[in-house]
Amino acid sequence: MELRYLVYVLMFLLTTLFLYLIKTRDQKDLNRRGRLPPGSMGWPYIGETLQLYSQDPSLFFATKQKRYGEIFKTHILGCQCVMLASPEAARFVLVTQAHLFKPTYPESKERLIGPSAIFFHQGDYHTRLRKLVQSSLSLNSIRNLVADIEAISALAFDKWDGGLMINTFQEMKKISFEVGILAILGHLEPHHKEDLKKNYSIVDKGYNSFPTNFPGSPYKKALLARQRLSKVLSDVIGERKEKKLLEKDLLGCLLNSKDEKGEVLTEDQIADNIIGVLFAAQDTTASALTWIIKYLHDNPKLLEAVKAEQKAIRKLNDKPLNWNQTRKMPLTYKVVLESLRMASIISFTFREAVADVEYKGYLIPKGWKVMPLFRNIQHNPEFFTDPQKFDPSRFEVAPKPNTFMPFGSGVHSCPGNELAKLEMLIVVHNLVTNFRWEVVGSENGIQYGPFPVPQRGLPARFWKESTSSNALQFTMT
Ligand code: HEM
Ligand SMILES: *[C@@H]1O[C@H](CO)[C@@H](O)[C@H](O)[C@H]1NC(C)=O
Ligand SMILES: *[C@@H]1O[C@H](CO)[C@@H](O)[C@H](O)[C@H]1NC(C)=O
Repeated sequence: MELRYLVYVLMFLLTTLFLYLIKTRDQKDLNRRGRLPPGSMGWPYIGETLQLYSQDPSLFFATKQKRYGEIFKTHILGCQCVMLASPEAARFVLVTQAHLFKPTYPESKERLIGPSAIFFHQGDYHTRLRKLVQSSLSLNSIRNLVADIEAISALAFDKWDGGLMINTFQEMKKISFEVGILAILGHLEPHHKEDLKKNYSIVDKGYNSFPTNFPGSPYKKALLARQRLSKVLSDVIGERKEKKLLEKDLLGCLLNSKDEKGEVLTEDQIADNIIGVLFAAQDTTASALTWIIKYLHDNPKLLEAVKAEQKAIRKLNDKPLNWNQTRKMPLTYKVVLESLRMASIISFTFREAVADVEYKGYLIPKGWKVMPLFRNIQHNPEFFTDPQKFDPSRFEVAPKPNTFMPFGSGVHSCPGNELAKLEMLIVVHNLVTNFRWEVVGSENGIQYGPFPVPQRGLPARFWKESTSSNALQFTMT
């Protein structure tokens, strides 16, 4: 008996010693290669993950930044990483030395979205896809979508009339999904859209769940739904080819693409990118829209001014909103920008160093992750005075270079940014010219899922503002 325990203790000690030796060997090797940035690595193997998750993540980073400066090392989620909290450092990684840092995502997420999706790649394949995605989402392409986006948003809003309590984020997700489908697949047949919607929502649920192949787990269900999505997309592609349709949406661009050797994209590559772009489009835009509704609600004077701007546009023509009008909404546009800054939907991103890289005398070792901290930069009082105050007028002057990056920067920056902004302008237009709303509960918390969303998705009630004929009806009944 005693002996067995002795053996266990001995084994434990030996393992610890072994790990310690490896660590000091690695450490010596690193010291030879250069000077690591300042910072603490926390407990072995868990690193500082617990600290990160036991408090507001922004606070975690801000505290570190105060202590160590613009660049510091830490150890979270099992990775050694270097965090970057200055505009110059973010630009270094994302723009000027982008070739030394590749995108990096957990394998489980790559499998779910599809490994050929644009944002997992670097180099020639990425460049080729990026051109296709960019051209389908360019100003020239999306200017034709105004009427359709307005119709999508009006249809969604009509369902909320009458003070029904809704989860704003979940409702906004419906709008951003429809707009995503429109930009990617154009006017899809209703039964295809229904199949995509249902199966995609299963993928969506599995995305943030624990990645296990155990039958019946949300992740496994999501993988199966992802396979069905490929089938639906393959049917859509088949029908397009049969009808010889030449559309200018993303699917059209992907289908027409040939590389220098005349090779077309495979159906898997096309499917992965369609699901990838849909994924990039949905929760981000829905989260931004939800914040806009909260900020407008919390700032009644501003809301009145936005209403005045939008009602003046509505008065000009009885016809639906047109592209030119969406380019002339100066106040609403600033509200959109300030909401993006305040909410900082993509709080940070990840890259991985593909070689040892030196930045301002510090070594970023090959294989380490780097994290540009967009949120901290956008909330730094040095660049945005009184950063916690919602103040659209701060955008009357352009922010300093690389301090405002809600859509990232460099080769992987968001190709959907113009579409996202257009969608926000149109939704705000529809909302403030037709509805009044009340937020239920006044808590100010943020939920991360993983994008920041107001507590509980911002429960709210909406009422269609009575036009004169409605008011008459009301008094008569
Ligand atoms: C408010 C809404 C949105 C925000 C805040 C946002 C933000 C971002 C950011 C910060 C990145 C860069 C990530 C990185 O560098 O790691 C990105 C990439 C991307 N976004 Fe968006 N996005 C939004 C909406 C959209 C929409 C509507 C679409 C498409 C219809 C879209 C498609 C993409 C794609 C495809 C990428 C990857 C680009 C690449 O790797 O080359 N996004 N987005
Ligand atoms: C998913 O897609 C398939 C077609 O591949 C379809 O039969 C099914 O009804 C869709 N919906 C759900 C919830 O699985
Ligand atoms: C939009 O503006 C452009 C240039 O300012 C003009 O040529 C065009 O006629 C306008 N279109 C509409 C529908 O008002």
